[in-house]
Amino acid sequence: MKTVKSLADYQSEYQTSVEQPEKFWEKIADQFLWKNRWSKVLDWNFTEPTIQWFVNGTLNITENCIDRHLSKNAHKTAFIFEPNEPSESTQNISYQTLYDEVCRLANVLKKLGVEKGDRVCIYMPMIPEAIYGMLACARIGAVHSVVFGGFSAQALKDRINDSLCKVVLTTDGAFRGNKKIPMKATVDEALIECPSVKYTLVFNRTNDTIKMQEGRDLNWKTEVQSQPDHCEPVYVDAEHPLFILYTSGSTGKPKGVLHTTGGYMVYTAYSFANVFQYQPNDIYWCTADVGWITGHSYITYAPLLNAATSVIFEGIPTYPDAGRFWQVVDKHHVTHFYTAPTAIRALEAAGLEFVKPYKLTSLKVLGSVGEPINEEAWNWYSANIGKNKCPIVDTWWQTETGGILISPLAGITPTKPGFATLPLPGIQPILVDDKGNEITGNNVEGNLCIKFPWPSIIRTTYGDHERCKQTYFSTYKGLYFTGDGCKRDENGNYRITGRVDDVINVSGHRIGTAEVESALNMHEDIVESAVIGYPHEIKGQGIYAYCISINEHINSDDLKKELIDLVNKQIGPIAKPDKIQIVRGLPKTRSGKIMRRILRKIAEGDFANLGDTSTLLDPTVINEIIEPHLKNNN
Ligand code: PRX
Repeated sequence: MKTVKSLADYQSEYQTSVEQPEKFWEKIADQFLWKNRWSKVLDWNFTEPTIQWFVNGTLNITENCIDRHLSKNAHKTAFIFEPNEPSESTQNISYQTLYDEVCRLANVLKKLGVEKGDRVCIYMPMIPEAIYGMLACARIGAVHSVVFGGFSAQALKDRINDSLCKVVLTTDGAFRGNKKIPMKATVDEALIECPSVKYTLVFNRTNDTIKMQEGRDLNWKTEVQSQPDHCEPVYVDAEHPLFILYTSGSTGKPKGVLHTTGGYMVYTAYSFANVFQYQPNDIYWCTADVGWITGHSYITYAPLLNAATSVIFEGIPTYPDAGRFWQVVDKHHVTHFYTAPTAIRALEAAGLEFVKPYKLTSLKVLGSVGEPINEEAWNWYSANIGKNKCPIVDTWWQTETGGILISPLAGITPTKPGFATLPLPGIQPILVDDKGNEITGNNVEGNLCIKFPWPSIIRTTYGDHERCKQTYFSTYKGLYFTGDGCKRDENGNYRITGRVDDVINVSGHRIGTAEVESALNMHEDIVESAVIGYPHEIKGQGIYAYCISINEHINSDDLKKELIDLVNKQIGPIAKPDKIQIVRGLPKTRSGKIMRRILRKIAEGDFANLGDTSTLLDPTVINEIIEPHLKNNN
């Protein structure tokens, strides 16, 4: 794919994309294989919202990810699989092998009765088969719903039932550092109450003993072996759903963000090529998990659409030691390395002795994603990993945006620590105040919205379009609201300051405070709780839970442990509160609204700046909440 090559190129491409968006995107879409060309590039309205890109176009995305490359690149490596255990051998998967594997698996899905539009849940560790699973669904027009392997049985069950999945793809277990995680056992527990699921396909990874339910559970390798390595692609409408990915919001249960096929393909491919400036012999490595949007867009789809070679890593940054990432970079001559600030901070804390043994000379571009990167971590990353010669692309985007919206283009856009810098061509950011008035000019701060659609924008929240409308398109009329606060500096560079809603970003994972609260409230001793985020050195934000117990004075370690276990069971370890404080009451307004602003200040230890507390129903609760903090400080 032809990419922007200079700042002047970027500026002129940006201008065209704003002045003639349809012409701009059409030219990019024309670089892909379509069965039928579209009749109209874009049809949209942000009120309903209805957004259609490449109207009436038909295609199969896997043909673009795989088949299209076979004439020239059949033997090129698509994926290098680096297992959890450094001593286990690496696997090189060529585009041809990828084709064969995806086709065989697609044939198995067909045999199991999966048809176009049906949903398939993927609950797997970071192994190539997870990616085969996603692509096998797309091959036959089925819709994948990947659920991160760290979610609990309850969370998995909720997600399966929300989209009524027919089949679940999973493994016996997962290797994660020095731990083995049961996967199939969790699926078994979830499926007790998932009537839509007819089959599971189980890939044996850890070779642990698992229960296989006759008539429902099938062995992956056995099923795949007997299938032909060709499967005709099913052509779908550009607006046919490609996947559902659940993400947390400020209220209620996680929502199933739905992305469709044509626009998602065009935007992810374009953004990857331009942001990373990937060249044909480069080795790209994104350390995310396919359970998150970064894994969908920038491990599975975009690299394949660009015929790239990427590393898939099963393990964790600190096993066998904190030098593992850098060892893998040297081993596979990685040129492009894309990770999250939380990992950078954790590896910085581990000390330079884990970096020193490695050369890191292959690196050309470093990336950051998922949360604001603090200047210190940015500088450490640049100096010690990039040796001050690799541009850092701080990429801002969201599950709902499908692809990177604001980011430097590697080697082209001047970088600035902590800043995602400039919008990609086609992206029109706007800052608004709380009333929705545009904040113009530079050196300003406001709520970040986008005023024009881009091809990979969210289309709906699965099964509940009204929720999509309310969450993203109703706060500010005619705008897509991101939920993020943002600064624009004197040169027009954007810096994302964090969420302005009740969503916490823990180690780059989005956690809805309402979800954690409802898990805590399930405990028989808990009457009410309020969960907020507080600054955490490694995780970016930690989870602080204030809970009211019916047994007023109980602040025991046992109760706290039970509460943590409960959150683990309801959601998963990623949502575990870092701190729990049992309180007698919560600061509420007279209308009963919890004043989280005050709770945040207390958790930060900023007792002098609690702001106006005069509207509180019972101001004395504040002193009671602060008291134990003061004691701890003395
Ligand atoms: O608050 C922003 C933060 O992560 C949120 C999106 O989370 P999620 O949908 O899980 O997707 C994460 C991976 C794209 C955003 O609303 N965020 C993401 N990237 C950045 C960021 N905050 C600051 N800088 C970033 N580069």
